Amino acid sequence: MKEYRDENWKKKMALSLNYTNMMEEAIGSEHGISPQALKKCEPRVKEIDAQLKEQREKGQLPFLNLPYQDELLKELKACGKKENGLWDNLVVLGIGGSALGGIALHQALHHPYYNLRSRQERNGYPRLFFADNIDPDGFQALLDTLDLTKTLFNVISKSGETAETMSQFLIVRNLLLKQLGKEGYGRHIIFTTDKKKGLLREILTHEHFQSFIIPDGVGGRFSVLTPVGLLPAVLTGIDIEELLAGAALMDTRCQREAVWENPAYLLALLLYLSDVEKGKPMCVFMPYVDALKDVADWFRQLWAESLGKRFSLSGAVAEVGSTPIKALGATDQHSQLQLYIEGPHNKVILFAGVTHYHHEVSIPKDYQDLEGLGYLGGHTLNELIHAEQSATERALTNNQRPNLTITLPEVNAFTLGQLFFLLEVSTACAGALYGINPFDQPGVEEGKRFTYGLMGRRGFEDKRREIEEQKIKNKYSI
Ligand code: PA5
Repeated sequence: MKEYRDENWKKKMALSLNYTNMMEEAIGSEHGISPQALKKCEPRVKEIDAQLKEQREKGQLPFLNLPYQDELLKELKACGKKENGLWDNLVVLGIGGSALGGIALHQALHHPYYNLRSRQERNGYPRLFFADNIDPDGFQALLDTLDLTKTLFNVISKSGETAETMSQFLIVRNLLLKQLGKEGYGRHIIFTTDKKKGLLREILTHEHFQSFIIPDGVGGRFSVLTPVGLLPAVLTGIDIEELLAGAALMDTRCQREAVWENPAYLLALLLYLSDVEKGKPMCVFMPYVDALKDVADWFRQLWAESLGKRFSLSGAVAEVGSTPIKALGATDQHSQLQLYIEGPHNKVILFAGVTHYHHEVSIPKDYQDLEGLGYLGGHTLNELIHAEQSATERALTNNQRPNLTITLPEVNAFTLGQLFFLLEVSTACAGALYGINPFDQPGVEEGKRFTYGLMGRRGFEDKRREIEEQKIKNKYSI
């Protein structure tokens, strides 16, 4: 344990959740939740808590054990040390859950202009790129920009067969082979994939790439604390030990049975009740911190893909889910906020803020004679952004719009680990409240099967036919 991470420090770095503005006392009974409604759900949450604990015990929820991976931590740190200084660039090839966690970590914990900094300023670590799409122009531009002979590629795919990632891999491998030859190219590739299944695993039986394992039963969107997120992080100098320690702290808070003491259960319950009882099937995740901008993207996938389900656990048609929307304060005050404040009463706003930013930026006391400008002088950007967050909260509340706030004392690996874990457990609990399986994604799989069919993969011919027949029917277009 790090010296400074004593109980006091942990307390100081603990996340808080303020849900005052979700309650009827703040926004009225039509849109707000009553303490009685929460109380009524207590037995159901207790049941869910017991279920989650039982599943955890049986090893059915392996994502819950991710904060405790001492061996992996050692292995990853050794890899980070070994690779440091060897590469100009690290490129992650992956999509969805195989990319979003890494991107969120990069945005949150690296310098905002990390890739523009000198190698010395990056402490010898490589620049970091995520190729999470297959737009030909975008991908080609990345390949044209980087010197591939100085680039390490981390190919991430749990299934080892996602068409986007596999295509990128084939392109990159071919280029590396041409530039470095059979002997040299393999050193430029690291696979992160399933232990036994999938084509990447199969390739590893005859190609000697380095590789890391995505543990069994951990789906893409719950995998940020596996090598999926941790490897790119450690290869670029992020303190992954702190990240896991933060997640472990949140784990202790999320194991509390009583909904009032468990931030994950409380968050899940409030969002669930707002949806099913108050007609608010949308949740806007709105950080007032640039560093958390891509956590909003990560959360969007976690919440959407986990909760948007056709069938309930009993097999009945349910068609549930709340739609996550990402926003950024203060920027989106000038884009989205009008809708959130005066549009339909169908959203909950989940703010994420910090007590301390890493810098304090003063606003100069100039133009004191201009009243509309002079008042800013002598304040800081920190005061301004805090004021804007409070102002938005107040305006929403005055207009009976439910909102709640997660506050991080500051953005660092320890608090980010807490935030990831909180949102993951919340999602699992919300899945149980909706009565669906939050860990599968049959809709995504269906899309993948159509792609395979269209690209001529054997065994998916019927999918190709289905789309081709549909084309004939596409007669309403101009
Ligand atoms: O969360 C998920 O399960 C998905 O978003 C997957 O991560 C995504 O489809 C990529 O799959 P894979 O990692 O198998 O290539």
